[in-house]
Amino acid sequence: MSGEPLAAHRRSLLANTFGSVIEIGFGTGLNLPFYPETVTKLTTVDNNPGARAIAARRRQDTPPTFEVESLTLSSESLPMADQTFDCVVSTWTLCSISNVTQALQEIYRVLKPGGHFFFVEHGLSDNRKVQVWQNRLNPIQRVIGDGCNFNRNIRQLVEAQFSHMEIEAFPEPDLPAVMGYFYKGSAIK
Ligand SMILES: C[S@@+](CC[C@H](N)C(=O)[O-])C[C@H]1O[C@@H](n2cnc3c(N)ncnc32)[C@H](O)[C@@H]1O
Repeated sequence: MSGEPLAAHRRSLLANTFGSVIEIGFGTGLNLPFYPETVTKLTTVDNNPGARAIAARRRQDTPPTFEVESLTLSSESLPMADQTFDCVVSTWTLCSISNVTQALQEIYRVLKPGGHFFFVEHGLSDNRKVQVWQNRLNPIQRVIGDGCNFNRNIRQLVEAQFSHMEIEAFPEPDLPAVMGYFYKGSAIK
């Protein structure tokens, strides 16, 4: 997930982040180099401790200009108070969270009024033929992809929680169709 074209999406999405930011599903920290200097503090959350060492090495190699706090916990239940963050970031993570509706409620809760949720995700295609394969392969993908789903309608999921949203949805030509339909945008609390 480190190569282009994903890096280009990371760069353009994260260019707009600012202030106190929480990133859910931080993984190995691939977004770290793309945060701008307008970020003052980054809190990272992932429920898998396995990637922490790689993320820590990445932080040492290219030290960010802001404070970073890393937590191993699920974004379905965040310990932070209501209205803590200016921005929440999720990149290719909503596909993998077991209770994604609960996670989106938590994202909304911890955002300050006027705060931004920035996301780029893969999900359900707008092409019926691709959808058939996404639904057919989903049970296998969940097993081999560590809980990842091909067929989540990210637009509907985010819309159910946020009333103000800008989103683009498009096929990413360099990827296989079942995992190459992207939803990218931001929602405002
Ligand atoms: C496909 S990886 C994406 C990693 C990273 N966001 C990126 O863009 O490279 C999905 C990540 O979501 C994490 N994840 C899955 N369920 C989660 C949950 N309930 N809470 C927090 N992180 C979760 C996984 O451990 C994994 O690191």
